[in-house]
Amino acid sequence: MKFKILDLFLCFLIILTVCAKQNATTSVTSPSGNILVEFQLKSDGTPFYLVGHKGQAVIDTSTMGFEFKDQSPMVNGFQVIGTVTAPHRETWEMPWGEQRLVNNFYNELVVKLQEIKTPKRQLNIYFRAHDDGIGFRYEFPHQKGTDSLIILDENTQFKLTHDHMVWWCPGDWDSYEHLYNTTKFSEIDARTMNGGTLLNFSYIPENAVNTPVTMRTDDGLYLSFHEAELLDYAGITLKVDPATLTMTSELVGSERLGYKVKRPLPFKTPWRTIQINETAKDLIISKLLVNLNEPNKIGDISWFKPKRYNGIWWEMHINKSTWDMASGYHGATTTNAKKYIDFAAANNITGVLVEGWNTGWEHWVGFDDREGVFDFVTPYPDYDLAEVVRYANERGVEMIMHHETSAAPRTYEQQLEKAYSLMKDLGIHAVKTGYVGKIIPNGEHHHGQWMVQHYQKVFETAAKYQIAVNVHEPIMDTGIRRTYPNAISREGLRGQEFNAWSADGGNPPEHLSIVAYTRMLAGPIDFTPGVFDISLPSKPNNQVNSTLAQQLALYVVIYSPIQMACDLPENYEGQPAFQFIRDVGVDWEQTVVLNGEIGDFVTIAREEKGTGNWFVGSITDENKREIEINFNFLQAGGNYLAKIYQDGPNAHYRNNPLDIQIEEMTVTKETVKSFILAPGGGLAISIMRVK
Ligand code: NOJ
Ligand code: CA
Repeated sequence: MKFKILDLFLCFLIILTVCAKQNATTSVTSPSGNILVEFQLKSDGTPFYLVGHKGQAVIDTSTMGFEFKDQSPMVNGFQVIGTVTAPHRETWEMPWGEQRLVNNFYNELVVKLQEIKTPKRQLNIYFRAHDDGIGFRYEFPHQKGTDSLIILDENTQFKLTHDHMVWWCPGDWDSYEHLYNTTKFSEIDARTMNGGTLLNFSYIPENAVNTPVTMRTDDGLYLSFHEAELLDYAGITLKVDPATLTMTSELVGSERLGYKVKRPLPFKTPWRTIQINETAKDLIISKLLVNLNEPNKIGDISWFKPKRYNGIWWEMHINKSTWDMASGYHGATTTNAKKYIDFAAANNITGVLVEGWNTGWEHWVGFDDREGVFDFVTPYPDYDLAEVVRYANERGVEMIMHHETSAAPRTYEQQLEKAYSLMKDLGIHAVKTGYVGKIIPNGEHHHGQWMVQHYQKVFETAAKYQIAVNVHEPIMDTGIRRTYPNAISREGLRGQEFNAWSADGGNPPEHLSIVAYTRMLAGPIDFTPGVFDISLPSKPNNQVNSTLAQQLALYVVIYSPIQMACDLPENYEGQPAFQFIRDVGVDWEQTVVLNGEIGDFVTIAREEKGTGNWFVGSITDENKREIEINFNFLQAGGNYLAKIYQDGPNAHYRNNPLDIQIEEMTVTKETVKSFILAPGGGLAISIMRVK
């Protein structure tokens, strides 16, 4: 069998070489030779590319082109005026992350194109073939007589070879907070989700999907489409044509400005990326996106320490208190903040977030005139900011600032320096930002170029003040945490909060088994796990659709360098299962995905940086299943004490979520053990080195 695949691949290469002679084919293979990208021009000079994996076509003839304001489109009429190929082998270190060392191995091909006829514009296309996928990007060099370009549309095609199974969210220009759909490509129908009742800021103009969008082919290959290094450009959605099995880039636009992108020349677009993996597990391990970003530009970031945090947050979402003070049950009081700080200090939690601390919340959701409402320096009278910070510092806890912009980014930008100076004076190194609502001014969208510029400005300004940023209602991560390691985490999905208040019964049990292979490929997620009071007594129509053991497993399964223990301190008191949260690592030497399938289950083991301790998390969808864990990831000769937190025999996410069994056993590299996960269940294991 192996022989056959190899033969096929050789044939493919021979065909390509023959083509190269006839049609100026240019191609590049990944370091292992498994992935091949081929570039060609049609007879009318239209650029197109193809992608293969071990001799099998993955992307069929897919054209590339642009439409501009005040210039004729770039569609055809090109000739190749030069090509450059170069190998690249580099290993770099993540300051924090899923693993410490990252191999960035690829071969690059640059194709230089020029129009045959006047105005003879040039376009360069960079292709990078990695062993876990490909990236390509466009470069617009200097052009005579023009100093900038206005792009009305980028038409990059991705022509699939079959009607794959797809895990997708609608191509929403404002929100990624949708449930995932699982359908054949030909059955994608995104516009039906427009104006959903949950999301007053949804805008889905096309039958398109948001990225990352992940697929499984009938031959068992896994593909995920996204973009890398999104800076000063519009975010991408992918328009779906079921008839031709083709996706075409549909950039997020601006009704206010009437275009998609405006950039001074010369410039490069973000990378268009396709992860190509042989197993679902490999999707999660891929470092393609970060590798396609530039190295750290902000220098030393040792002032940011990955951490567990708690805070005044969940209590608002379950209606126990409010962000605003006028309600009479304000959450962010000095006394309440001290309660959370005391709990943090006593439980190995090093960060505390306080939402609703600043004036303005009386005029938040439901108001159109939100410009100028929030300032980011004035606490409510019942919240003594300086005293809270002093109290926290004294107990070894760092406060995390909160800036809800209410989607009025101009108000926020006007106050950035002032707000961050205050944080610097107080010695606060992290902020959670938020952009709830329709963007002001009208006609702009969360994922358009104007907002991409805003989010970028926030990261850059924050870096100057040694501030790390966790963005809610963000632009999707595209691996820029490599360049800006103060971009620590983001929401960008239906998070835990939906379990507290969504009218559709919260996130279904399969949600996170899909997220692990879709949203999580983009980068760290601030999901805020750790609800122990799962049935939510104060919310009769809501509950969290998982078992307690699954809530623990999420600290390992979902990656983020900041992980919230989101429940109220009183719900953790006296709970033996809370020990896992006290122990679990937040920064990793290495990550191993042990098993999993998209939408069904996933098991991940991570080695904590600096201690040699390991943590395992496993989650399942609504189906009970048995998983086998082979502990061969442990160091040879090492002795470890494992503490196992698993679903009890009667556990079920719906009616018996708290049934949990906790036991200890010694494990070594040779241990192999099976576990039962309950419906909506999970498994968490801490594995501590013993001398
Ligand atoms: C939405 C965020 O996702 C949530 O975490 C936050 O509590 C509210 N906005 C208020 O800012
Ligand atoms: Ca949100």
